[in-house]
Amino acid sequence: MRRGAWSNRYAFYLATIGSAFSLGNLWRFPYVVDSNGGGAFVVTYILLCFIIGLPIVVGELMIGRLSRLSILSATESISLESPSPWVRKWKPWKWVAYTANLTSVCLLALYSVICGWVLFFVMQYLTHLITGRALPDDLFNILMNNGTLQVALMSVHILITTFVVSMGLKQGIERLSTLIMPLFMALMIYLIFKSLSLPGTVDAMRFLFYPNFSYFTSETLLKVLGHVFFTLSVGMGAMVVFGSYLREETYVPRSGFKVTILDITISIFSGFLIFPIVFSANINGDYGPSLIFNTLSVFFNKMGLGNFFGLVFFVCLYLAALGASIMLLETSVSHLIDSKKWNRSRASWSMIVFIFLVALPASLSSTLLKNLKFQDLSVLRLYDKFLIDYMLPVVCLGISLLVGFGISKKKKQELFIREDEMDSEKLFRNWHFLVRWFVPAVIIFGFVSSIVF
Ligand code: TRP
Repeated sequence: MRRGAWSNRYAFYLATIGSAFSLGNLWRFPYVVDSNGGGAFVVTYILLCFIIGLPIVVGELMIGRLSRLSILSATESISLESPSPWVRKWKPWKWVAYTANLTSVCLLALYSVICGWVLFFVMQYLTHLITGRALPDDLFNILMNNGTLQVALMSVHILITTFVVSMGLKQGIERLSTLIMPLFMALMIYLIFKSLSLPGTVDAMRFLFYPNFSYFTSETLLKVLGHVFFTLSVGMGAMVVFGSYLREETYVPRSGFKVTILDITISIFSGFLIFPIVFSANINGDYGPSLIFNTLSVFFNKMGLGNFFGLVFFVCLYLAALGASIMLLETSVSHLIDSKKWNRSRASWSMIVFIFLVALPASLSSTLLKNLKFQDLSVLRLYDKFLIDYMLPVVCLGISLLVGFGISKKKKQELFIREDEMDSEKLFRNWHFLVRWFVPAVIIFGFVSSIVF
């Protein structure tokens, strides 16, 4: 099936970066850095983004660009083209795609709970801006004690996402990303300047960049890997969808590289925003997923025009997260459209009940299911750990093997090696070595070390 292409180069970057730049950078990055000892995690994260994340970003974009299909249909055709009769019969790559799709829908459920929290902050800042009152510092606790509200907000988010997806990819995503990205970046830079003028900045920088590897445990490698995959939006077939809309002339490795660099930059920015506040306000203790909500409400409360900036910030964050949610749903919807020939609307609405049911326990984890804990982790944190620390590395292992061994070398070379690109042959060899051997080896080592040590 022929697809449309991005209307221009920037539309592609805005959409991929829009999907990469979201809750992963602003909500999750600070909290995993905080819970895993700071600098050592940050340094490893940056390194692994380049040597593990980037090769997979390029691999996923390549699957989409070569097949012009979503990941499930693409793996089907890759299996059918294989010279091995075993692969043609059993289509092993399809399982990679199924797991990728399942992970993507479950992540959307987790995402929806957090988006519900963001929506709550939007509402609170809006009402307090109108009434002119200051917000309570413990705003987040009020929400955590209200399970019904969390369920309601999560449901609203799922409804909005499904509605947008059912209306169509182009209008939905492109317009949204184009509108908010520049505004959000400008606001972030302004807020970072404010935050960097706080007294805790020096401590924050030391915490962020001074690597103290004594915090590393046997599980840390998997945690870093999971976060790298999550923040770069790989392991769910999303980049395959983006790649399938790429224009012929786009040089895939360069696109992947730019997306990676930008994503790292935004994560570091979000560290610059959050950690000076953490160290200045003496916010200590393991806040986990609530870190940015707790720190930012203190920050905005102390700032001139705080309610206004708080409102704009959370509206932008919500829209960024909505963009990502749309893509998370889009991957599965694309598949239903390609394979079952359903129309977009039917494909989108058919997912909604499943997503809601998966999200429900997570949104009740601070109230009704408060005492349901495993290894001291609440249901929400268990979801987060299971999906991001375990499922994403598993799927990415599959994807790296699929790209490394499943697609013929000739096809990959045709796309990769170009006369007008300097050193593209050498680049190809390095990349191919990484996806084929290095990435799988590191992921397997991550699992082995978390089990054995
Ligand atoms: N990268 C996104 C973030 O940082 C989350 C994400 C993971 C995502 N996979 C995705 C977004 C697929 C869109 C599509 O928050």
